[in-house]
Amino acid sequence: MTAELARARIAVIGAGLMGHGIAQVFALAGHEVTITDTLAQNRDTAKARIAANLRDLGDDESVVERVRPVAALADAVREADYVVEAVSENLALKQKLFAEIERHVRVDTILASNTSVIPITSIMQGLQHRERALGTHWWNPPFLVPLVEVIETQWTSPEVVARTMELHKSAGKKPAHVKKDVPGFIGNRLQHALWREAIALVERGICDAETVDAVIKASFGRRLAVLGPLENADLVGTDLTLAIHDTVLPAIENRPGPSPYLQELVANGKLGFKSGEGFRKWSAEQQAVLRAKVMQHLKATRET
Ligand SMILES: NC(=O)c1ccc[n+]([C@@H]2O[C@H](COP(=O)([O-])OP(=O)(O)OC[C@H]3O[C@@H](n4cnc5c(N)ncnc54)[C@H](O)[C@@H]3O)[C@@H](O)[C@H]2O)c1
Repeated sequence: MTAELARARIAVIGAGLMGHGIAQVFALAGHEVTITDTLAQNRDTAKARIAANLRDLGDDESVVERVRPVAALADAVREADYVVEAVSENLALKQKLFAEIERHVRVDTILASNTSVIPITSIMQGLQHRERALGTHWWNPPFLVPLVEVIETQWTSPEVVARTMELHKSAGKKPAHVKKDVPGFIGNRLQHALWREAIALVERGICDAETVDAVIKASFGRRLAVLGPLENADLVGTDLTLAIHDTVLPAIENRPGPSPYLQELVANGKLGFKSGEGFRKWSAEQQAVLRAKVMQHLKATRET
């Protein structure tokens, strides 16, 4: 890694759920971080939210002093070596933002988007220097989930990919290089292949939603954190994997679009936690218990 990213000046655009957590990770790794948001309230509360997270995790709370909330975008990015955008998921907004950012940064400042699903190519196509632009897909909460997918486009320079990988690695993350800018990158393609079949099992009356989740949590879910599917295939043998696929793949869901069952839930206002019912009913207490369980699990498996 070039020396400049060893102790970099990092600008985080968007101080919402993801942005403040990303700023926290970089500050803890020793970088100087500016953070901006068009919403004054999110700028003003960013440091307090980061301090509360650090306290809760038992991390050095004083690193919050490396984070500087800034009102104007130009002031946030002017000195930056690396800019990561975590504003709302809207293509036009992100395109406009990067065009504006490019007016205020050096030509070698790396520009990254934390979009969940928008192709990086679409976001970055209008830039003057597309070789310094790429995607970095963090997972929520950024300070507990290790993965950051680093997505290159056809224009991204190999040096920019390498520096970005190293920046995240040295901040304690597990960066994964995504060599083609495909929808869903790697993690969400895998995750939603599973969700498609999970929904189909309920839709076809094979079991209820609670049973789908119970089956996963009590079986391969237990192993997944230490045994990936391809390690697992090698472990049991590719010949056995082939035999299983011969029988199972023709039987599982392969619809190219969202399930009608899911569409019906949404049309009927069954939106999950936010409406109290989705695939299942959720009381406020049940919601709180599940959220707490997830945080507790992520904290317990956190690598230091
Ligand atoms: N929430 C997740 O689990 C998750 C995971 C991975 C990636 N992402 C992606 O990260 C991005 C941010 O998501 P989030 O969940 O933090 O959303 P959020 O709504 O919590 O935060 C977005 C922030 O961007 C601010 N904003 C909007 N326009 C702006 C502008 N022009 N300049 C500066 N700030 C602006 C908003 O005021 C808000 O504070 C999205 O692209 C999202 O898809 C989210």
